[in-house]
Amino acid sequence: MKIERTLVVGLAERSYPIIIRPSLLSLIGADLATRKIGKRYGIISDDHVAGLYGETLLQSLADAGVEAELITFPRGEASKNLQTIATLASELAGRGFDRGDALIALGGGVSGDMAGFLASIYMRGIPFVQIPTTLLSQVDSSVGGKTGVDIPEGKNLVGTFYQPRAVYIDPDVLKTLPKEEVLGGLAEVIKYGVIWDTEFFNFLEQQREDILALKGEVILPLIARCCEIKAQVVEQDEREGGLRRILNFGHTIGHAVEAASDFSLIHGLAIGIGMRAAADLAVLGGHLSKEEAARIHRLLKEYGLPVTIPPALDRAAIKQFLKADKKTIGGKVFFVLPESVGKVLITDQVSSEDVDTVLQDG
Ligand code: GLY
Repeated sequence: MKIERTLVVGLAERSYPIIIRPSLLSLIGADLATRKIGKRYGIISDDHVAGLYGETLLQSLADAGVEAELITFPRGEASKNLQTIATLASELAGRGFDRGDALIALGGGVSGDMAGFLASIYMRGIPFVQIPTTLLSQVDSSVGGKTGVDIPEGKNLVGTFYQPRAVYIDPDVLKTLPKEEVLGGLAEVIKYGVIWDTEFFNFLEQQREDILALKGEVILPLIARCCEIKAQVVEQDEREGGLRRILNFGHTIGHAVEAASDFSLIHGLAIGIGMRAAADLAVLGGHLSKEEAARIHRLLKEYGLPVTIPPALDRAAIKQFLKADKKTIGGKVFFVLPESVGKVLITDQVSSEDVDTVLQDG
């Protein structure tokens, strides 16, 4: 096994590397020192991740002569709002951060989305780098430049497309991740197999035990393949005008289920349910064979992901959230449906009856 993988997201002058290797956290300082992205770095992290990895990162940066300060916010999605952004911006200004400085996002999707958004607007934009510490952020949200915060009307409704200058992925940090978070990340991993890569789907079927045990020899290539696919999609459609929408496979019904659960169901688990529902919708619409749908169901179940909508969730509420989703354009709800394992289509031609059927079956 190659111990280190470096990929590139090719976006002309906004291209950047994704560096993946074990024990990377303690080596980031040396690498960042050569890149000269900022004079000084503000490390944006939640108070939990800061406690786990803040010191190691600060030490690595100090050893390499890179100036950095840790700035934390309270852990959790409830912090992902404009008020926290205002507080963090004041903190940066108070500490004298200027246009020559940069941010580091250390943490999961919330830290990445917020630090990226803050970087895109602080002093009209300063550079930032991503150090994702959850599986979900390592395989998805840290790559591709989506940033944002929630407002009372919905999740991620305020944000920007703003690419990081580098992404550093250390698979070792997954060892402290709660099992549920690992599973949620694996739902997004399975997504890449269904939307893009049959061979990768086969790999997920064959290597399940080692993947669930987070063995280094399978986890590093797994993360690398997901980032590679994400990079290929983003390179072709950075601002989600078309192709990038395939990354929303499982997210149409998944987001609605997540919202209807009042976010007690974590994102990745809701997406697993959404992928099952999308596969069923594809069968009902005549796009996918029952055998291929059964393969998708089976893989989700074998990984221990829930595939049914909790009975207590109100189906009418789920349908309401479907209509309110930000992926709805001109009142039409778009679905990403598999045609086979490795290939999807995007359509708004899904009948309300078929949606009712998959919500009831779930
Ligand atoms: N997570 C989907 C995207 O970045 O487009």
